[in-house]
Parts: sequence; C-alpha cells; structure tokens
Amino acid sequence: MKKLSILPAAALLGLLFLQANPKPEADTLLALHPEAPALPTDVKAIVQQKCYGCHNADSKNEKGKAKLDWDALEAAKKAKSLATMGKITEALEEGSMPPARFLESNPDKKLTTEEVATLMQWSTGKKKKE
Ligand code: HEC
Repeated sequence: MKKLSILPAAALLGLLFLQANPKPEADTLLALHPEAPALPTDVKAIVQQKCYGCHNADSKNEKGKAKLDWDALEAAKKAKSLATMGKITEALEEGSMPPARFLESNPDKKLTTEEVATLMQWSTGKKKKE
C-alpha cells in the first residue's frame, strides 16, 4: 500500500513543479514551432461550435472574453499564443470547458473524446495547419 501511494504523489509533485515553472515548457514549444500557431481546419471547426460563442472579441460573456479571445489568439504574437495554448491544454485536461453549468442547458456543446483529442493535439503543438 505504501509503495503504491508514491507514484501519485510523485506525479502531483511533478505537476506542481510544472505549474510553478511554466516557462521552460513554453520555450520548448517555441523551439519546436518557430512559426506562429494557426488553427488547423478541424480544430477551428470544433472551436467554432463549442468555444467561440463565449470566447470572442464581441462576446457578452465578459469573464470568458477576458480569459480567452480566439480572434486575438490567431492574431497574437507567437509567445503569447503559446501561453494561451497552455491554458487551453489545462482546461481540456481538467475537462472544465465548456463550463459545466452551461452544459446543463446545452448538452450538445459538450466535447466528445475525439474532439478533446483533436484540440489537445493542436494546443500541445503536435498538430500544424494543413
Ligand atoms: C458558456 C460559455 C463558455 C464556453 C462555451 C466556453 N467557455 Fe471557456 N470560459 C468561460 C468563462 C466564463 C471563463 C472564465 C472562468 C473563470 O474565470 O472562472 C472561461 C475560461 C476559459 C479559459 C481560461 C482558463 C484560465 O484559467 O485562464 C480557457 C483556456 C477556456 N475557457 C477554454 C475554452 C475552450 C477550449 C472551450 C471550448 C471547448 C470553451 N472555453 C468554451 C466560458 C465559456
């Protein structure tokens, strides 16, 4: 039992370390992807359907707009985009987006497993614009 509990603890520590030091990760991404990240077609389609409604420059959802604006993301400088993509990865990992309360009344906006995978591939820099 004791031994088994070491792994999750180590994973948690690693996670904390990454969160405390977000920069190295961004630097690696930057090195891997010198060109500004653009949205691949399939990623864009998912975003349009499931995220854009709250996260755009004219959104009435002030909180959502303040946190993430897809229009600005596409126009943003490389380094800033990568930081935002990191936030998106986090939200996807946590399953916190779209917000649960919104999904209660809009169950069709829930991301499918495939959609999460597609978005993650892009937000972690494994997928480029075709
Ligand atoms: C119903 C409106 C709505 C939809 C749809 C929505 N979001 Fe959000 N989003 C919000 C709000 C509100 C916040 C701010 C939450 C907060 O500050 O607690 C937010 C915050 C975020 C953040 C910032 C998190 C942080 O801690 O900085 C990210 C990243 C994000 N959303 C990604 C997404 C993605 C990806 C999708 C689509 C899969 C999506 N959102 C769909 C309303 C929405």
